[in-house]
Amino acid sequence: MEIPEAILKRKSVRAFAPKGLTDEEVDTLIQSAIRAPSAGNMQPWAFVAVRDRGVKEQLVEASRGQAFIAAAAVVIVVCTEASRNSARYGERGATLYCLQDTAAAVENIMLTAAHNGLGSCWIGAFDEGMASQALGLPAGVRPVAMIPVGYPDQDPPPRPRRPLAEVLHRDRW
Ligand SMILES: Cc1cc2nc3c(=O)[nH]c(=O)nc-3n(C[C@H](O)[C@H](O)[C@H](O)COP(=O)(O)O)c2cc1C
Repeated sequence: MEIPEAILKRKSVRAFAPKGLTDEEVDTLIQSAIRAPSAGNMQPWAFVAVRDRGVKEQLVEASRGQAFIAAAAVVIVVCTEASRNSARYGERGATLYCLQDTAAAVENIMLTAAHNGLGSCWIGAFDEGMASQALGLPAGVRPVAMIPVGYPDQDPPPRPRRPLAEVLHRDRW
């Protein structure tokens, strides 16, 4: 499958079959994450791959009851360490680059998941403190996204997009 196919195939999946993922399958996702670009190649990311039922339930609680998260074979929590960016780029590194870098890593994971026949969903609505506590994150490591990943148990229709004519400006706004 070519990259454009994976882009078109990826859709948010919120129902999963009760089938696990091997360590190799998880490693493949993280390998693709760490190929993402990052400002100055500072790579501020870290990943927690959660399979433990109890920890998953705590992540559901942190996300205010998004129960489908616990049904995924693995929940990859993408974290950022802003200090890695701020050391070189100051405020812009700490408030912008560290989030852009990890967002690129998230998208790589989701596209690779789609390429490999897996479903995933980007979860951004959660209490960071609760998630940090559930995962035992050290100070300075911020959870920025959760990605439940598993074999899909649904094939949702593509969600609509704003048309190109509305979002694309040529040469000037
Ligand atoms: C930053 C961000 C946060 C999101 N948070 C959630 C979330 O908390 N729960 C959820 O079910 N979906 C979440 N989504 C998924 C979006 O709802 C979804 O990507 C959007 O509706 C477009 O649908 P599609 O992914 O199927 O193309 C989030 C997506 C992004 C990029």
